[in-house]
Amino acid sequence: MRILFYCIRKVFDMGSKISSFGKTADGKEVSLITLVNKNGMGIEVTNYGATLVAVTVADRDGRIDDVVLGYDDVTDYTLHGGYLGATVGRNCNRIHGAKVAIDGKEYILDDNENGNNLHSGFQGYNSLLWDFEVIEEELAVKFTHHSADGEQGFPGNFDITVTYTLTEENEVKIHYCGTSDKDTIANLTNHSYFNLGGHGSGDILEHTMWIDSDAITVTDARSIPTGEIRDIKGSPMDFNTPKKIGKDISADYDQLIQGAGYDHNYVLKNQGCGLRKIAEAADEKSGRVMEVLTDSVGVQLYTGNFIDKDSRGKGGAVYQPRHGFCLETQYYPDANHHENFPSSILKAGERYDTTTVYKFRVK
Ligand code: BGC
Repeated sequence: MRILFYCIRKVFDMGSKISSFGKTADGKEVSLITLVNKNGMGIEVTNYGATLVAVTVADRDGRIDDVVLGYDDVTDYTLHGGYLGATVGRNCNRIHGAKVAIDGKEYILDDNENGNNLHSGFQGYNSLLWDFEVIEEELAVKFTHHSADGEQGFPGNFDITVTYTLTEENEVKIHYCGTSDKDTIANLTNHSYFNLGGHGSGDILEHTMWIDSDAITVTDARSIPTGEIRDIKGSPMDFNTPKKIGKDISADYDQLIQGAGYDHNYVLKNQGCGLRKIAEAADEKSGRVMEVLTDSVGVQLYTGNFIDKDSRGKGGAVYQPRHGFCLETQYYPDANHHENFPSSILKAGERYDTTTVYKFRVK
């Protein structure tokens, strides 16, 4: 029966569709764009925050479930924190002291977390209404935003596109591309919380995780990098050999205690080698596997430690801390305060161009 349902969906839903996702508080119409590929896998994205709202993909028995946390309409996205599925920028993660010097000039940013800047402050890209265009023949949606000089406190007119493509290889490909007329910071990510058992299926502690990394950027009690790059081989942070997320999450280890679980930037191997596989998560129960590919230098493993307790998501699903995990590809947090970290400065006139792929299969 399930298989039959799946085949019917394949035939009828293939392609793209635009529907209403409600209105913002100031009355602006928001859209939800659905893309479905030939295999029956689907994604939903909205122009509010260029957000990934849903990823519907079959398990090993052909049962389709939605594997990202999210909300049913735009209102809920505006009322809740957590950046569910959002595009985060111009700079993701934290900047110490909410200020940064670029070419010798200091820029003041929003202090929206304990004296620091998190995810670019109060008006992040996650809360903007983006322009968009559906590219039907590529099963893609291209979001565009002109980020004016001074927006969020950053210098330079930054024109940015974020393109989501659903491929026939069951990949959600996210391509970020932009240029600025002044040197600026460019460091965008996607903040999806994945749960391969289905977004309403409980915690992710039984998921198996692999990350191609031997080191993390160590953080202090406020999640600000200290500058230390720590070798984690053999420690509870190590995912070089696949292990359950829950195995060591409560270990007596400074970084895990401070972060209330995993909330750390992993220093990726093979930097400068272009798009390569950097992580894989698997849910034994459903058989779903998600590979992550990127050309970035770092990835934040965040195990949803601060998801609002008892919050209500899509279809009334109840979300709790650790009901989803994020793999946020990025430059190392607070890169511009540490000379030993790769710089996240985009030079005027040069191109910011980075791709991350979340690829699904079953085993
Ligand atoms: C950060 C977490 C934060 C979460 C939601 C993640 O990228 O690393 O510390 O709680 O975003 O804001």
